[in-house]
Amino acid sequence: MKRLISVVLLAAVILTACGSAVSEAPTETPLYRDPAQPVAARVADLLARMTLEEKIGQMTQVEKNSLPVGAVADYFIGSVLSGGGGSPSSNTPEGWAAMVDGFQEQALSTRLGIPILYGVDAVHGHGNLAGATIFPHNIGLGATRNPDLVRQIGQATAEEMLATGIPWNFGPVVAVVQDVRWGRTYEGYSEDTGLVTELSVAYLEGLQTLPSGYVPAPGQTCLVAATAKHYIGDGGTLFGSDSPSGYLIDQADMQVDEATLRALYLPPYQAAVEAGALSVMVSFSSWNGTRMHANQYLITDVLKGELGFEGFVVSDWAGIDQIPGDYYSDVVTSINAGVDMVMVPQGFQLFLFSLTAAVENGDVSMARIDDAVSRILWAKFLLGLFDHPYSDPAYLATVRSPEHLALARQAVHESLVLLKNENQALPVDRNAGLILVAGEGADNTGLQSGGWTLEWQGVSSSRVEGSTILDGIEALAGPESEVHYNRFGRFDTLEGVIAPVGIVVVSENPYAEGVGDSPGLQLSQTEINAIVNLRPQVEILIVVILSGRPVIITDQYPLADAWVAAWLPGSEGAAVADVLFGEVPFTGRLPYTWPRSSAQLPLNINTVGELRGCDGPLFPFGYGLGEAASEPIEWLECPAIP
Ligand code: BGC
Ligand code: BGC
Repeated sequence: MKRLISVVLLAAVILTACGSAVSEAPTETPLYRDPAQPVAARVADLLARMTLEEKIGQMTQVEKNSLPVGAVADYFIGSVLSGGGGSPSSNTPEGWAAMVDGFQEQALSTRLGIPILYGVDAVHGHGNLAGATIFPHNIGLGATRNPDLVRQIGQATAEEMLATGIPWNFGPVVAVVQDVRWGRTYEGYSEDTGLVTELSVAYLEGLQTLPSGYVPAPGQTCLVAATAKHYIGDGGTLFGSDSPSGYLIDQADMQVDEATLRALYLPPYQAAVEAGALSVMVSFSSWNGTRMHANQYLITDVLKGELGFEGFVVSDWAGIDQIPGDYYSDVVTSINAGVDMVMVPQGFQLFLFSLTAAVENGDVSMARIDDAVSRILWAKFLLGLFDHPYSDPAYLATVRSPEHLALARQAVHESLVLLKNENQALPVDRNAGLILVAGEGADNTGLQSGGWTLEWQGVSSSRVEGSTILDGIEALAGPESEVHYNRFGRFDTLEGVIAPVGIVVVSENPYAEGVGDSPGLQLSQTEINAIVNLRPQVEILIVVILSGRPVIITDQYPLADAWVAAWLPGSEGAAVADVLFGEVPFTGRLPYTWPRSSAQLPLNINTVGELRGCDGPLFPFGYGLGEAASEPIEWLECPAIP
């Protein structure tokens, strides 16, 4: 079979060669430009034509706002990114496409015309794009346990990215989160290695799948590249250990032995590599005191060697700068550790200068540079960028298409976890007569979407296009029922009236990364007050929690008849009401252990052991009432934990 393929390839080569000879092209088309050539041959041919300056440019990724006019061409920059909130001044699909195509035009104007690879964090849909379909954050997808759904979300996200001309997503996060105080808990699917592996591979495959009916260029395998991140152990750092940015847990130190690292955190990477991940991003964190960006053993020996990763390794945002020592040594150490592309958000000239000097000084070998550049070029060829470098307006129609919105609603439905349901509180009776709704999160698309939505830290207003939970409640309440809303749960005009049903939506404020690290996971007093205020005015009280992780609700638990964990559902908040009103059943199951008190943390399936009752969690991993079929927990009066 192999021989047959090489004969066919050879024939193709001869045919093309003959073809160009007959057409008497004035200048010979370089081999790397010939889509009929095998990708490896195109990479080798192109590499052989490149100067050191062009090679180092390929290894450089710059944040779009830090690029002086013309710099992509002048410095042969290989990649450009939008950080969180890095939208163009016109935040429309067309505005994005024009911006990305503009950078691409510069890249194609250079001597060799190597296309740039534009990257973005489309981590729950294309969150930086105004008007995108925003899916639940990964924590909610973890609750669905539905890999087919997650695969389709990957595909849908890829389409909306392509509408903006962007072929590279910095996702999925494949962290196996062991401490829910981490501000990135919601970016991870679960605390369970198996669940993380299953869902992250489904997402990655969805993202990297060619749309049905798409005719690829020869050698092209995908239109969008995924990034398995953050290699490795980002969800496993020790609370309070050294974090260069001063965070409580983000970017800190993972203190486990190698066997634990391999058992807990490596499987999703192994699966991502097998599924053809084109890139892996290095973690800001360290392992037993060594910054991951400096860890040659884990990046080169384990990831590229043992796991056979053929794609390229990208650093995190100025991640190499956290390696001890001066910038020159940071560059030398990280490149020698196996980082192929460096995210240099600002100050890229210093990086170009330092890496050039390192090669000239013999501190970084030419072989290492060639390996890094070959990997980056290989990915660009597999993406078909040499043959289709520009945005394709055909995808514009996919942004917030009815199909994508239906998928997002399905994801919301399946992500909700029913934690408590007493006194037949749920489903809500449409004909209840009077429904009182409280909590800022009930009527706020920003709060329900969380971080990485329009801005790095998310927004706490309804700037996100979509529907709110209140919209859904109003739509489903029967013609005889009135819905009243007050953020604080104060319905003074209804003094003396006891409504049959009250719904409070409590929420965390949006956050991203270490900014969201939390020592206590407490609800704010305003949120607690909304519950306390509404309680005496309703017969049945339902609390819906919008949060990026379990929060401590033990003291408030007895106050409500029903509790629902809705995570961060994204732009389609009204879909939450579908489940509350019983249009769709509750099927979600906890992707994380739910602690009883913050004093128990870190508490997860690996640490919970025999802890039960007052020492155990409030709800175990996998818990969920309704069709998820857990037995309701028995309420315990536990002594207050200091
Ligand atoms: C985050 C990455 C992200 C990158 C680009 C970093 O701060 O850790 O997850 O992909 O920024 O926005
Ligand atoms: C960017 C993010 C990035 C972060 C790193 C922010 O300014 O918008 O994308 O992850 O900085 O600290």
